[in-house]
Amino acid sequence: MIDFHSFENTNSYSNRPVDITWIEKLQTFIEKPQHKIAVDMGCGGGLYTEALADLGFKEIYGIDFSDAMLTSATNNYQYLKRTRFLKGTAYSSGLESSSIDFYLQRAVLHHLSDPEAAFMEAARILRNEGIIFIQDRTIEDCLIPGSTSHLRGYLYYDFPELIEIEKQRRPTISETIFQLKNAGFTEIKHMNLWEVRKKYDSFQDLRREIESRKGRSILHELTDAELKLWIQKLENRLPDMEIVEKDCWTIWVAHKKDSN
Ligand SMILES: C[S@@+](CC[C@H](N)C(=O)[O-])C[C@H]1O[C@@H](n2cnc3c(N)ncnc32)[C@H](O)[C@@H]1O
Repeated sequence: MIDFHSFENTNSYSNRPVDITWIEKLQTFIEKPQHKIAVDMGCGGGLYTEALADLGFKEIYGIDFSDAMLTSATNNYQYLKRTRFLKGTAYSSGLESSSIDFYLQRAVLHHLSDPEAAFMEAARILRNEGIIFIQDRTIEDCLIPGSTSHLRGYLYYDFPELIEIEKQRRPTISETIFQLKNAGFTEIKHMNLWEVRKKYDSFQDLRREIESRKGRSILHELTDAELKLWIQKLENRLPDMEIVEKDCWTIWVAHKKDSN
């Protein structure tokens, strides 16, 4: 498994642009961000924390349990001092109760052993009417067949043993809704989003990223020899020209509503 605490992986989740489809999707849930405080839980290299700053939030907290990730986030971004990167966990954020208006958790859910406890912590720190935005891939999202844009699909076709690993760790739509309800969230909606993950100038550019196992924790399940084999298989399938890689995500959005 990927070790988020290793400084070898410190730049695994940084230095790539945030896709416009993601920004547009988020904007549909945000009103008057200049009056609001947001948190990016499991912020990694801070890409999306920075995007929240660009969207105009008054203050933004990027929280992660890994010093390695926080080092990369702090080195890359400190947007106009409105962003603060803090060490904390999804279960114990260190933030005050009812202090946050918007809670983002992107690509973290499948790493959590107790999602419901994390949602309870989110409900604690969110103000009344606050919004939770959870984004992750379900097993169905992962298993969409491979194509010149959905490269991840080829991975499970070439290494079907990875499917079992993903099944164990991936959230399902209904379980996540159930856990959000149990944590007290209401008006729960879910939807899909195809997001451009990254554009590569050429196959060589993609090769370099796969070799570094950047940004895809599942690649840490492959041996070096398997990784090499996968690169060969991809090279036979993909043109040596610009490659636009996309991923399908599931998003769950819900509201915190105080009972009185
Ligand atoms: C796949 S990365 C996603 C990073 C970032 N959200 C993004 O979308 O680029 C998962 C991040 O969650 C963090 N993480 C995993 N479990 C966590 C926990 N229990 N509490 C806080 N952070 C956690 C990891 O350190 C890592 O930075």
